[in-house]
Amino acid sequence: MCAAKVERVAKLTECDVAELCDAASLAILDGGGFGWLEPPPRQTLEAYWRGVMLVPERELFVARLNGVICGSGQLVVPPKNNEAQKHYSALQHGFTAPWARGHGVGRMLTLEIELQARHRRIRVMNLDVRETQTGAIRLYKELGFTHWATHPHYAFVRGKWTPGLFFFKNLQETDAPPNSPPKPPAAPE
Ligand SMILES: CC(C)(COP(=O)(O)OP(=O)(O)OC[C@H]1O[C@@H](n2cnc3c(N)ncnc32)[C@H](O)[C@@H]1OP(=O)(O)O)[C@@H](O)C(=O)NCCC(=O)NCCS
Repeated sequence: MCAAKVERVAKLTECDVAELCDAASLAILDGGGFGWLEPPPRQTLEAYWRGVMLVPERELFVARLNGVICGSGQLVVPPKNNEAQKHYSALQHGFTAPWARGHGVGRMLTLEIELQARHRRIRVMNLDVRETQTGAIRLYKELGFTHWATHPHYAFVRGKWTPGLFFFKNLQETDAPPNSPPKPPAAPE
């Protein structure tokens, strides 16, 4: 039986970076919506993950299956100057490595990121996805995200435009995911 776990990462170990690179490369090769169309050189990918940790507006979440990193997602909040949208967030770069799909990892990752956003008093979560990512579209619809627009010129893949679907979820008007851990004390506004 596979034990799945999702956690926010404050610091990446060498082993974490290696496992993230492996998982991301496999997802990219599978056509996985991670921005890259081909896996970049290993050094570039390693620098990417280390760079994510340096961005104050990004929080990295990883999923592990039997202890091995098999997917990740990022919670992105607006920079401090954007007061008007301080209650917005984006869920970006969610993926599960092909070998780990179908074990509920994508769902767990999305729910954990949503929960953390709620704990930070974020009111709206946005995300966008290529029209070809049918598994992701089904997952996000199931989890209550609303499809509000389609951009016809969203991504240019293999010589042609691929439309992109834009979703949002109003976290104030929807319930927290079931079995959520208790809410920590609220941070001052
Ligand atoms: C979308 C994705 C993250 C799902 O990962 P996963 O770990 O397999 O997801 P889960 O096992 O939690 O499945 C959750 C739901 O996703 C949907 N789903 C997952 N894979 C699917 C597939 N290949 N086809 C159709 N639906 C799928 C199902 O609705 C499933 O619900 P079910 O368990 O009731 O059938 C994964 O397929 C992936 O990485 N895709 C490529 C990257 C991507 O599209 N990222 C999204 C935005 S950039």
